[in-house]
Amino acid sequence: MCFVSYMPTLSGRARLAGILGWPVAHSRSPRLHGFWLERHRIDGAYVPLAVPPEQLGLGLRGLLACGFRGCNVTLPHKEAAYALCDTLSESARRVHAVNTLFFHNGRIHGNSTDGAGFIANLRDHGVNPAAGPALLLGAGGAARDIAAALLDEGAKVSVTNRTPERAEALARLLPGLAVIAWKDRAAALADQALLVNATSAGMADRPPLEIALSRASSSLVVADIVYVPLVTPLLAAARARGLATVGGLGMLLHQAVEGFAAWFDIVPAVDRELFEFVAQDLIPAKSRD
Ligand SMILES: NC(=O)c1ccc[n+]([C@@H]2O[C@H](COP(=O)([O-])OP(=O)(O)OC[C@H]3O[C@@H](n4cnc5c(N)ncnc54)[C@H](OP(=O)(O)O)[C@@H]3O)[C@@H](O)[C@H]2O)c1
Repeated sequence: MCFVSYMPTLSGRARLAGILGWPVAHSRSPRLHGFWLERHRIDGAYVPLAVPPEQLGLGLRGLLACGFRGCNVTLPHKEAAYALCDTLSESARRVHAVNTLFFHNGRIHGNSTDGAGFIANLRDHGVNPAAGPALLLGAGGAARDIAAALLDEGAKVSVTNRTPERAEALARLLPGLAVIAWKDRAAALADQALLVNATSAGMADRPPLEIALSRASSSLVVADIVYVPLVTPLLAAARARGLATVGGLGMLLHQAVEGFAAWFDIVPAVDRELFEFVAQDLIPAKSRD
């Protein structure tokens, strides 16, 4: 496969952004933003920044002082960064977390783009988010934003979580969100048009998600937001039953668009070439041979 390749040379006016995490080495965001920077021959850089939790405030103020245009924040900073923002988008305010920050005149504006990225990825796969009832598994940071985005689309949404108190807390935050007991998740599939795994179960080196798909209707769409591996055990089980599936990598690509557009003044495309460039980094070396 041939990807754009050139040697970037930064001028003194280069635009700067990056991602703060602890750790941050696993992040695919530098690869993803780097692809767009190369494609558009932008005088700019997007860098990984390993910042421990107790240094987050200092780190953000340092980036502001150094003229960065903004940054992403990833685990474990999403909620702490929310508290450090001067202004917030509606989606950030609703989920009490941020993943994308914009710096302007010494102030920090925070947004949460996971929910919008999830919806855009569904649409890329030809799935109407409001076509029918949706069952969301998980009540962590990503699940919160996805629940809010699905409700915004007009979908009927139920949530279920291994720890029920977290699902109930989410339902208090988002009026209209129904709660289903974790033990009833498989039975509930009979009435769903969309199943979303927003738990971390199924990630590489972790146990797979425990859910039987035998009660699912043949029109159920199964979406997983986990993208390492690209095809999770849940997606493989759904495909084996002939169900339509939506993988998590597209969501990662779409959630990045808004930040890149604001920092580098170009709205980048999410397309096959980008997908394959990022996916290549997720395939274990031995299966590439
Ligand atoms: N595709 C993307 O762009 C994207 C974006 C964000 C996140 N993600 C992925 O989404 C996943 C969740 O991220 P997050 O930030 O929401 O994490 P989080 O806040 O830590 O939440 C984790 C969720 O997973 C549940 N869980 C963990 N292990 C489980 C198991 N064995 N069985 C059932 N439920 C289990 C937790 O349930 P309890 O409450 O019971 O612990 C909780 O609901 C991660 O894999 C992350 O990489 C993908």
